[in-house]
Amino acid sequence: MKLTFAEPKLPSKDAIVVSVAAGGTLGASGKALDKTTKGAVSRAVGHDGFSGKAGETRMLFAPTGLEEATILLLGFGEGKALDALAARKAGANAWQALIAAKAGAATLMVDGITGCKLSLAELAANLAFGARLRSYRFDRYLTKEPADKKPSLEKLAVMVKGGAAARKAYAPLEAVADGVDVTRDLVSEPGNIVYPKTLADECRKLSKLGVKVEVLNEKQLEKLGMGALLGVGQGSARESHLVVMQWSGAAKSKKPVALVGKGVTFDTGGISIKPSAGMEEMKWDMGGAGAVVGTMHALAARKAKANVVGVVGLVENMPSGTAQRPGDIVTTMSGQTIEVLNTDAEGRLVLADALWYAQDRFKPQVMIDLATLTGAIMVALGFENAGLFANDDKLAQNLIAAGETTGEAVWRMPLGEVYDKQLDGGPADMANISSGRWGGAITAAQLLQRFTNKVPWAHLDIAGTAWSNKPKPLMAKGATGFGVQLLDRFVQDNYEG
Ligand code: BES
Ligand code: MN
Ligand code: ZN
Repeated sequence: MKLTFAEPKLPSKDAIVVSVAAGGTLGASGKALDKTTKGAVSRAVGHDGFSGKAGETRMLFAPTGLEEATILLLGFGEGKALDALAARKAGANAWQALIAAKAGAATLMVDGITGCKLSLAELAANLAFGARLRSYRFDRYLTKEPADKKPSLEKLAVMVKGGAAARKAYAPLEAVADGVDVTRDLVSEPGNIVYPKTLADECRKLSKLGVKVEVLNEKQLEKLGMGALLGVGQGSARESHLVVMQWSGAAKSKKPVALVGKGVTFDTGGISIKPSAGMEEMKWDMGGAGAVVGTMHALAARKAKANVVGVVGLVENMPSGTAQRPGDIVTTMSGQTIEVLNTDAEGRLVLADALWYAQDRFKPQVMIDLATLTGAIMVALGFENAGLFANDDKLAQNLIAAGETTGEAVWRMPLGEVYDKQLDGGPADMANISSGRWGGAITAAQLLQRFTNKVPWAHLDIAGTAWSNKPKPLMAKGATGFGVQLLDRFVQDNYEG
């Protein structure tokens, strides 16, 4: 879909999208359209319960005076509730209604609305951003799909007073949307296409945007002493990698924000093998790494004024003659030892070394990891919130705030000594699973905390949010790209001042 911005000029053909505010209030272009169509717009308002509530849409096909056009009335609701996120959702609704009507080209007329705190340019840019986010589709393997099954919309022209300002406001949002789509692509790809080396190759592409990318191989990881990460990958025919991505958008003296991602490109469970039903879902067990790569893309593409480093641990967890056994004891880069009681609790082993490496090398101001870490977080929070664990209240608050503004919600979970103790008691410094059955997302987080070296740290368990089996307001079903908008906002609000 090609998106453009221009000064308002009522078209006479194709689809025309116009907003209707709560109570059926029309803006300037709504009134102009009403005149051209001899009252068709105002007649439709109030008809069949359409009153301009947020989320409502109505289609008027070939109305009098505009016989070659389709009008889409787009409910905006109350002006005071129309913030950036609501505007994004409205833009996504417009996209969906246009696809349903098989529109090939559309013009979105942006009118100001009373009570709305967004400038016209921001309103237009966020409407466009929402449409763009909703339009993602992973269809590269559908070789026989008929053209009429593909989304029809090829062109969306956003018309607004001060079109240039809107285009300028959209530029950083487009960078974020590109980052989100990078993550969605990586997460959607199957394990035979995205594996440690190919994922590392995708990371390398960030160098075009000015990101410094280093790819470490198994020999280098051995030298660093990353026995936990390497143990997970040792059953796979694919070589394990650790990728380091550095974006330097601020003064050298500024310590970076570190983002660390779990990149298990396929998780069979290893020798503690998973049941076969649903195992294909474990192709997206690299969702944390995917989110880090997408965020680095977004930050670099919009030239964020912050120093951010991304570290992703890339491994494939397979059962084989060389695979790690239950009971194996591995030595981590930190020197601490871990008894691997369950080879399916592998994400924490990868992160133990990746987190230690990130804090040891970069001495970050804060460190945030993202991981599809536990089924238990889905039991606790379902699919609507990622689990947030943090050893620092300010950091937790900042992440919660970024979640609220972007709609990528996070919910804080507890950490504590009583949970931590559940990893003790075996022949190594800790076991990789807890002695009890309950609170599995928490005990997993406790293990991670032992590798943070007291740096301000947060862990996001995104097992319930990286993938969605049903569409959400801003996305089709499938890979959500969760984390990119959240982290981009978090960096923008706290580290670019
Ligand atoms: N990758 C899984 C967690 C997961 C499950 C993510 C379902 C997304 C959807 C993780 O590696 C895992 O297997 N965790 C185990 C831990 C257990 C063995 C302690 C789990 O949650 O069952
Ligand atoms: Mn697992
Ligand atoms: Zn896993």
